[in-house]
Amino acid sequence: MPSMSDRPIGMFDSGFGGLTVARAVIDLLPNEHLVYIGDTGRYPYGNKPADEVREYARELAWSLINDFDAKLIVVACNTAASVALEQLASELPVPVVGVIEPGARALVRVTHNNKVGVIGTVGTISSGAYVQAVRQTKANVVLTSAACPGFVEFVERDQTTGDEVTVLAERLLAPVRNAGVDSLLLGCTHYPYLSRVISEVMGPEVVLVSSADETAFAVRDILLEHSIQRDELQGDHRFLSSGDIAWFAQLGRRLLGPELERADYWSTNTGR
Ligand code: DGL
Repeated sequence: MPSMSDRPIGMFDSGFGGLTVARAVIDLLPNEHLVYIGDTGRYPYGNKPADEVREYARELAWSLINDFDAKLIVVACNTAASVALEQLASELPVPVVGVIEPGARALVRVTHNNKVGVIGTVGTISSGAYVQAVRQTKANVVLTSAACPGFVEFVERDQTTGDEVTVLAERLLAPVRNAGVDSLLLGCTHYPYLSRVISEVMGPEVVLVSSADETAFAVRDILLEHSIQRDELQGDHRFLSSGDIAWFAQLGRRLLGPELERADYWSTNTGR
């Protein structure tokens, strides 16, 4: 039985998006073991009913604990975090970190004109989770939100630039652009992969904020708080997908980097 410190950090998303968070965690905490599940077999989450997403999130989190012995769970998906974080935090026997509060904290820190924006999936935006998280920071800001259906599908297809995505971005980003925000939170872990197009549409004066780094800092703080950080050199990194694992390994390696050497198959029956 490995010691608590030697157990991996468990992380999940609907697909490739959480790899933005995985990258930040690997860079900040290179000694930690990591197990990442991309639920590409059931993505996208953003247009699914909250109850369904909550059930998927519970399945994934419990599998990371029961099948992979995770010592901490990172919900690297805004859609899942917006509807399931509270329940996961109350039922799981290990600490849980989401991406919403860390993202909101980073967003209100960078604004100068106090007009901030958040973009995310339909599920995330309609949950109101960001309105609540920004309010909890007590910052005196005006928040404009916009849902961006279709963005996630472009990333999962590896189509992150070009006319089609730019035309969609121009239409979907109009509310936040017209609101005059000076900082925009990418409230979906897939969106950093579309940064170039989003930045072109928003203009160079708008700062794009990703929750990945801030989430990694939150993970570090919790590990230290519970004294469960791993100090040995170089952790192992394991990646699983519920969809096409050859595609997951191919695109995933390009998005995340060399740590993603291969992907294994994950199903709801993994470990049973
Ligand atoms: N990466 C997920 C998020 O942060 C994506 C969503 C999806 O599957 O629609 O919300």
